[in-house]
Parts: sequence; C-alpha cells; structure tokens
Amino acid sequence: MIWGRGAYVIVALASAPIIFWLQYGKVIERSFSVHKTHSIKEMENIFQLVRNVIPPLTAKKHKGQDGRIGIVGGCQEYTGAPYFAAISALKVGADLSHVFCTKDAATVIKSYSPELIVHPVLDSPDAVREVESWLPRLHSVVIGPGLGRDDVLLEHTKGIIEKSKVKGIPIVIDADGLWLIAQQPSLIQGYPRAILTPNAMEFSRLYEAMLRDPVDNSDYHGCLLRLSQALGNLTIVQKGERDLISDGEKVLVCSHEGSSRRCGGQGDILSGSLGVLAHWAFLAGPEKTNGQNPFLVAAFGACSLTRQCNNQAFQKFGRSMTASDMVLEIGTAFNKLFET
Ligand SMILES: *[C@@H]1O[C@H](CO)[C@@H](O)[C@H](O)[C@H]1NC(C)=O
Repeated sequence: MIWGRGAYVIVALASAPIIFWLQYGKVIERSFSVHKTHSIKEMENIFQLVRNVIPPLTAKKHKGQDGRIGIVGGCQEYTGAPYFAAISALKVGADLSHVFCTKDAATVIKSYSPELIVHPVLDSPDAVREVESWLPRLHSVVIGPGLGRDDVLLEHTKGIIEKSKVKGIPIVIDADGLWLIAQQPSLIQGYPRAILTPNAMEFSRLYEAMLRDPVDNSDYHGCLLRLSQALGNLTIVQKGERDLISDGEKVLVCSHEGSSRRCGGQGDILSGSLGVLAHWAFLAGPEKTNGQNPFLVAAFGACSLTRQCNNQAFQKFGRSMTASDMVLEIGTAFNKLFET
C-alpha cells in the first residue's frame, strides 16, 4: 500500500485541463465527482496562480528584491550548464545571479556574460565557509548544473546544502547534485523546501536508492508519489516527454507544447527558472497560491516556460536550435504565458 487515498492527476494542456482521479496507480475513471470539480478549478487557475506569485515591477524597489539566486556548479569540464542556469534566472526576472564554481571554470563562465557574478570558490578548501558567507544574501540556490562528480567538490556541495537548509532557503537540485542525493538521500530527506528535477535516468537512480526497487514503467505516477513521500514529501519534477510534478500528494502533468527537439542545456534553463519562481512562490505564500503548495506552482510555471521557449526557438531554428536560442526566447515566452 503506497498512498492511502488516491491522488489527483492533473493533465495540463495550457487551456484544456483534463483531470483524472487516480487510485492505486491506475487511472480508474474520468471522475465527475466532487474531487474533480475541485481539481478543475485548481487546474484552470494554475497559470493564474503562477501569475499571482510574480512580483509586480515598480520603481520603488531596490536591486535584489526580486531575487538573488545562487548557482552551485561549474568545473573544468562543464561551464555551459551553470551559465545557462544563471542567465535563465536573470532573464526570468531575478535581480542578481551568482555562480559558485571552481577556479578554472570561473574565468570561462565570466567570459560568457558580464551579467553574472562568478565566485571561484568551489574547489577551495574554504568552499563551504565562502559560500555560507553569501547565503544570507541569497533567496534560493540551484545545486548541480555542471557540478561533475569529483569527490572533493561533492563534499563541499554537501556542506553547502547543509548550510542552505539551516538558512531555510529553497534548494533546487539537478544533474550531479542528484547523483550526490542518490548516494546520501538523508542530506535532503525531510527538507520541505527542496525541489529535485531528475530526468528519467536520474529518477531511476534516486528511486532505486530510496525504494530498493526498479521503477515500474507501467506506473510513473505511482512511482513519483512514492519517491516524493519516501523523501518526506519534497517536490519532485520528473522531466520527460511530459513533465510530472509531485509533492507526495498531488501529481501535476505539464504537457505544454514544446517541440520534438531536445538540446543540451534545456534542463539548466529549467533549473535556473525554477530557482527564481520557487523564491517568488515561497515569498508570496499560500494566500497567493490559493492554498496550493507554492513549489508545485513554481515547478509548473518553470516547466511551462521552458517548453514555451523550446517551442518558440524551434519555430525559428528547427533542428539547429540550441539552448542559447531558447534563452533568447525567455522574455517573450514569459510574457505570453504569464503577463497576458
Ligand atoms: C506525505 O503526504 C502524504 C499524502 O498526503 C501523507 O500521507 C504523508 O503523511 C506525508 N508524509 C510526511 C512525512 O509528511
């Protein structure tokens, strides 16, 4: 027995919500029960809920109020991923994006963009203390883009996650950050402000680490719920053809139209966007999200946005589309989805 009272499965097709009542891993009916009425309302509102948490642009604010986001990752081999995550956070609307990476990655990442603040600290013996000193100024952290699997860097990352938990800030974990979590799930287990963004392979690894069983390919929803619950109901975004989002109670399905083209860096655009939206949704509180888990709302927003960017870039570039093309679409995609 996995989850007691079934779960809402909300299939979101931007304007055409379809809701199923799911029980014991099977969609048993297209329910027209009270539950459904309730859920449809939620579904119709979910884009609205994302809109609700977006802070208005006013002249009165000072720099930093709309979000200072930290990206932990970037090493000798990988410099693109932290760049894409950090620039996406800025394009979505964060005021400042900090990258905490290794010394040899820092100059490279800086050279991509003058807009990022780059700290060459991740391989320093003082890494944890250095990043900790910035944490009071950060609203959320994204852990993992371009992190790699070097033992020393993973050890430092572990320390950074622990310090971030003490500060109570939202933590988005992706890529090799998830590899670390699969080795030591207790690092994040029970921290309700964590959002994990695994792809299919990362999901399997986490699932097997936690549930000691392979993923049941006939029951993705059930597996997602089980994994979230096993980790203490933190939010998980399972990326795929459709993105499944769960907090251990509900499963949202984001199948907003993207394209058939996947390019490297798309996951980093998602994690960077999610860093900002998680902060906004968390700050806005349950009143603005109509009692919904703010991280579900944030995740739904980030997934839809990433897919919309993919869709727009694909229309322009087709097969030659890359993550850089997607980044350039963030502004118009955001307006189209959330500011109309
Ligand atoms: C997680 O959520 C499920 C479903 O709502 C609930 O039954 C369970 O008690 C929750 N677990 C924790 C640790 O909060």
